[in-house]
Amino acid sequence: MTAFHNRVFSGVQPTGNLHLGNYLGAVSRWVPLQDQMETIFCVVDLHAITAGFPDPATLRHATREVTAAYLAAGIDASKSIIFNQSQVREHAELAWIFNCVARMGWLNRMTQFKEKAGKNKENASVGLFAYPNLMAADILAYRATHVPVGDDQKQHLELTRDIAAKFNNDFAASIKELGLGVPNPTPSPETPEQVYFPLTEPMIAGPATRIMSLRDGTKKMSKSDPSDLSRINLTDDADAISKKIKKAKTDPDALPSETDGLKDRPEADNLVGIYAALAGMTKQDVLGEYGGQQFSAFKPALSDLAVAKLSPMTDEMRRLMGDQAEIDKVLKDGAERASAIAEPILKDVRRIVGFLELR
Ligand code: TRP
Repeated sequence: MTAFHNRVFSGVQPTGNLHLGNYLGAVSRWVPLQDQMETIFCVVDLHAITAGFPDPATLRHATREVTAAYLAAGIDASKSIIFNQSQVREHAELAWIFNCVARMGWLNRMTQFKEKAGKNKENASVGLFAYPNLMAADILAYRATHVPVGDDQKQHLELTRDIAAKFNNDFAASIKELGLGVPNPTPSPETPEQVYFPLTEPMIAGPATRIMSLRDGTKKMSKSDPSDLSRINLTDDADAISKKIKKAKTDPDALPSETDGLKDRPEADNLVGIYAALAGMTKQDVLGEYGGQQFSAFKPALSDLAVAKLSPMTDEMRRLMGDQAEIDKVLKDGAERASAIAEPILKDVRRIVGFLELR
């Protein structure tokens, strides 16, 4: 190989309900990438057990539901590889090797672990602590070059680059001797001429695509928020969607005509942002249309738009969830195609590290 092959990898955990934030901030942005590069989209079930094992039936259901959401949102199984992580053993194996590459100090800095473990650090699973190493393994088991994620995952992608760089450095001699390297695309005196793993480029969704809670414009829309009114689930029907938008928190003022006027008005900013994302407009365009109007006029328009945009997708999700065999076929086929890429990469990695393989 003379250069890294452009390849996108991303994933969503099958835990809890998928919501508008996952759709606008992640899955919908993946759709156009399918025509630009090779794309691999994973349902990360190995990650879903790090914060405590879900009930097994719930985990199976959620795995199929995320798959249905991918398909309903326009991820095309003939263009992209769609699969669930646990079916491809190479993820877990590479994660173990990365457990021995990453340093305790690196993982101790991960803010997501601190947030998720909270005060109860002593009782968090070792898997929750090592979560970012598994994420690095997901990406690098395919030597993926591009990873589209939300900005909350930025630190994990930096860690992925650190792991790749340390592996490339520590094993530079072995990589060269075995002839398994690629010319370093970013050569420097401190880095080897031949490298095995790419330094993955993050494709970060900016704060503009960050969807906030409908009850509190300063908090991210989240599947773990106790209030169901805080989010629009991809399983909500038209009535639920309109009810939630009607009840969404706002302030008493009319909408401004300029985006500057959204400063310090987090709820107004969020609703305008949701409208813009759903309509494929800028926030300024939305304000051009609705500036000066009250929420009593804007909310019904937003609600109609949300229902029009989301119901074809949620209908398709429901249809797919009624056809388990179709979903399972996609996941089985995807796992075979994913394995065909990851298996030879892990074979290389075992040789590079020095594991004897005699079969
Ligand atoms: N940690 C990611 C999230 O919570 C999900 C994920 C797991 C992921 N492995 C990945 C995303 C690999 C991109 C690439 O959003």
